[in-house]
Amino acid sequence: MHALGWNYGPLSTEVYNLDKPIGHSFGDVEYYRRQLGGIEGSVLEPAVGTGRVLVPLLESGLRVEGCDTSADMLALCRAECASRDLAPVLHHADMADFLRPGAYSAVIIPAGSIVLLDGREATARALANFHQNLEPGGCLLIDVPAPDMATDAAPMRYWRRDDYVWTLQTLRVEYDRATNQRTEWLRYDKWHDGALVGSELQLFRLQLWSIAEFRQLLVDAGFTDVTVTADYGDAAPGPSSDNWTFRALRH
Ligand SMILES: C[S@@+](CC[C@H](N)C(=O)[O-])C[C@H]1O[C@@H](n2cnc3c(N)ncnc32)[C@H](O)[C@@H]1O
Repeated sequence: MHALGWNYGPLSTEVYNLDKPIGHSFGDVEYYRRQLGGIEGSVLEPAVGTGRVLVPLLESGLRVEGCDTSADMLALCRAECASRDLAPVLHHADMADFLRPGAYSAVIIPAGSIVLLDGREATARALANFHQNLEPGGCLLIDVPAPDMATDAAPMRYWRRDDYVWTLQTLRVEYDRATNQRTEWLRYDKWHDGALVGSELQLFRLQLWSIAEFRQLLVDAGFTDVTVTADYGDAAPGPSSDNWTFRALRH
């Protein structure tokens, strides 16, 4: 496990849910629902987080399980599910190590969470596990954000609820040309009646990939029939696409 604030802790979990509550969609919720239509077996969502995508998929009648390394994200996911009378199987596990061979008809990773894995070795291991976890004929759907090497810090953001205010500041952004990784130093603060009640530092490191590199990783992991579409539509990626979704099969 990473040291030094790599994980989603209590404050980054609260802010994730304020900013992107359950069902909040970038177009991905509808896209994944459409792609998974008709699947009767189990679906795995590694890096499930708060259940932003998992909950609407469960409500559509799909059987979805999740795994995540953050105890805080999983606790919130369980609470959001329980409040809707849902009780999915959720595993506290690293997606690069999680193995249940042949257990799933589909594996999905929305929101670009795959790029949170640190480098080629961990990513290749995770993809090989996803391949093993699929039944023959099973399908992998995975979002990869188009690379962004900009190092400008985003303006401060804030959220208000009752007497509480949460602020999010980007302290620094680094781009490492040797590893092709971008790291944002994110500071979360929680305030009550003007007094600071909690702080959290999150080092948010994204591994950047080209389409050709990521396609090759999928092929090396044993996947076939790899296709790529952009921004939750049917078209192939172009120069200004923000998100690439790879679809690949286990034969
Ligand atoms: C951006 S959130 C996405 C959550 C959710 N999939 C969604 O679409 O809203 C990223 C999640 O990935 C989880 N995560 C990061 N590295 C992970 C790993 N190696 N294995 C499993 N989960 C991981 C984080 O704890 C966090 O909950």
